[in-house]
Amino acid sequence: MRCVTVPLIGASTVWRDVARGLLAAGVAPSDVLWNAEGQGDAPDLFGVDDAVPTSAAALTVPRSFVAMANSVCYHSDPQRFARLYSLLWRLRSQPHLMSDCADPDLAKLRQMEKAVHRCRHKMRAFVRFREISVPGANRRSFAAWFEPTHYTLEMNASFFRDRFADMDWRIVTPDVTAIYRGGEVALEPGQPAPKLPEDASEELWLTYFRNIFNPARLKVNAMTSEMPRKYWKNLPEAAAIPDLIANAPARARAMAAAAPTLPPLRAASAQAQQARLTSVWADTGEGLEAAIRTCTRCPLHCTATQAVCGEGPQDAALMIVGEQPGDQEDLAGRPFVGPAGQLFVKVAQEAGLDRSAAYVTNAVKHFKHIPRGRRRLHQRPNGAEIEHCKWWLDAEITRAAPRLIVAMGATAAHALTGMGARVTARRGGIERGRLGHDVLITVHPSYLLRLPDADAQAAATAAFRADLALAARHVQTAGA
Ligand code: URA
Repeated sequence: MRCVTVPLIGASTVWRDVARGLLAAGVAPSDVLWNAEGQGDAPDLFGVDDAVPTSAAALTVPRSFVAMANSVCYHSDPQRFARLYSLLWRLRSQPHLMSDCADPDLAKLRQMEKAVHRCRHKMRAFVRFREISVPGANRRSFAAWFEPTHYTLEMNASFFRDRFADMDWRIVTPDVTAIYRGGEVALEPGQPAPKLPEDASEELWLTYFRNIFNPARLKVNAMTSEMPRKYWKNLPEAAAIPDLIANAPARARAMAAAAPTLPPLRAASAQAQQARLTSVWADTGEGLEAAIRTCTRCPLHCTATQAVCGEGPQDAALMIVGEQPGDQEDLAGRPFVGPAGQLFVKVAQEAGLDRSAAYVTNAVKHFKHIPRGRRRLHQRPNGAEIEHCKWWLDAEITRAAPRLIVAMGATAAHALTGMGARVTARRGGIERGRLGHDVLITVHPSYLLRLPDADAQAAATAAFRADLALAARHVQTAGA
């Protein structure tokens, strides 16, 4: 058995040289015991058995493996070096292994690589320096304490060097310390948290943070995912967050009330026409489609070709709701005629559902997109656009009084139930809609088209088919 202890500092270089030597000598992964300095029972000093060859000679391996290894060496999993070596060993006989997404060893390493990248990014975002300059010194000095999840300080050293070249600084973590002085970064062992002075610029930073905080765009989950709570204790601005969150709804309302409301261009005549048609429809129940076609309730009508109304029997027992018309629907003026629509019709048929017997519509009636060269790229409608279009969706539901509504995708599920929880966790379930109807939640067919791998696509399509079959049964039993 060969024993290798890889140091924390310079881990990727040491691992690479040792791995090259072992591989060249034909040492199998099962004959190597990889230790990580400071973890488990490993001796704290870097050590390589006499019997362990090292080599700096180049080895041909896929570039993606090298990049992955350079990151994974800084993961906190004590098995990281052994996992990397096992994969490197297998690469000799499986040169295409790096593109095998289903390989569990590779998948695990990819996951570790991702975690290291995330940690590296968090360190860049959340290191907060405090000034420790000595009076009379010709350069200002700063220090920061940071507790990363993985050993990412070394990977970030050049980032901080380039970003803060005009001051001396040190970043202390429990495992590694980086010290920048005289244009060079030196890496040393970690230290306990230093006592750092209260920073005079902190108040300024807090004021800045309070000012850039936009209460109208607050999404607490997204915010805590971007700024995980474990980092808060070392972030001066974290103290302001609870108040900012608590006051956000009131501030957002005040902002909305104070905002100027400018009508979109050429809106006046369209609005007059819409008002006329809407009142005809409201009084007589006639002309809903004509009113939808003149809709200017949100700016999406400015860039879409036309509003796409629902299609099918107006009193259908089953209503199908998608997100919004796509590129082809926008041009044709009919819902679900493009690739997602064709997939829906095919799977629906397999599930015993006849599209022409259902009323098929969308939560949002205009195509939202951005131009990219000659293409128009789909954009998800936002909360306000969904809200504006509920007016029409509710009218369609009230007119049809369906036994069941199938919500395909997150936008439809949100518009119909008022709840934004993930569709993947809710699909296959029947919920009570905002207007009291049964709403079956399922995925949107475009989600199936986006899945990259054939197995996942087949499994998700089967689940979608099962949901539509459930819808068919539900409509029959509810009508019996
Ligand atoms: N996607 C939808 O949600 N609706 C359509 O009409 C087409 C694609």
